[in-house]
Amino acid sequence: MKNILLIGGSQGIGLEIAKNLSQQHNVIVASRTTGDLADLNVKHLTFDAATDTLDLDSLPEVLDGFVYCPGSINLKPFKNLKIEHFQEDLEINYLHMVKIVQTILPRLLQSSQSSVVLFSSVAASTGMPFHSSIAGAKAAVEGFGKAIAAEFAPKIRVNTIAPSITNTPLSEKFLNSEAKMERSAERHPLKKVGQPQDIAQMAQFLLSDDSSWITGQIFHVDGGMSTLNI
Ligand SMILES: NC(=O)c1ccc[n+]([C@@H]2O[C@H](COP(=O)([O-])OP(=O)(O)OC[C@H]3O[C@@H](n4cnc5c(N)ncnc54)[C@H](OP(=O)(O)O)[C@@H]3O)[C@@H](O)[C@H]2O)c1
Repeated sequence: MKNILLIGGSQGIGLEIAKNLSQQHNVIVASRTTGDLADLNVKHLTFDAATDTLDLDSLPEVLDGFVYCPGSINLKPFKNLKIEHFQEDLEINYLHMVKIVQTILPRLLQSSQSSVVLFSSVAASTGMPFHSSIAGAKAAVEGFGKAIAAEFAPKIRVNTIAPSITNTPLSEKFLNSEAKMERSAERHPLKKVGQPQDIAQMAQFLLSDDSSWITGQIFHVDGGMSTLNI
């Protein structure tokens, strides 16, 4: 049984990860609300990554897995973006995550081999209009993940998942009608948008011993969006 900390897990992709893992592992979810966690066998910590520091006393001595789920999708033409928008995206997607990794590093190093899973976006590697802010923030996550994977190998594995649009509360405003859903699906070679389980299953694999020879990678779970031009 592993001790796995999820920042965010009350909804969306993190909730699916919590569902997948909670049967077999000791799962701790730290988020602002309990969301849909009520029926799951997980420990919940009320925690806001923007304002709080994680209390190590409420965490196990050994952390075998860590996933950081908070993110944003603020799409605007570059000329309409203020520097504050870039700052906000950088904070929630990247800087708060870095602070938490710093806090829990000693616990991750207590494991025989821990696994960290971060979230990027298809927009970090594929140029898309109106994505300049989120693309920059997620590219920071990707670079950080590789550097930390190198620095802490073989003790800590670090991998990043880069999804395309996935049907969660975060993307609700882009998918809240049949027409929007169809348009989004059509843009993907596999002709559908992602479901939370599509992404959660990759995270579950990366947290498991089945991926014990995989680190420093970016996994493009995106319906073929980032690599196929059909
Ligand atoms: N959905 C997509 O289309 C898509 C596409 C590309 C990349 N991604 C990335 O995938 C990751 C997961 O996305 P998602 O769609 O599952 O997002 P989501 O539906 O917004 O869920 C985010 C989770 O993080 C928690 N959270 C948000 N802000 C927090 C804060 N300040 N402190 C603590 N917890 C916080 C939320 O819980 P509380 O509200 O209870 O705090 C929630 O459990 C994100 O990094 C996102 O950028 C998503």
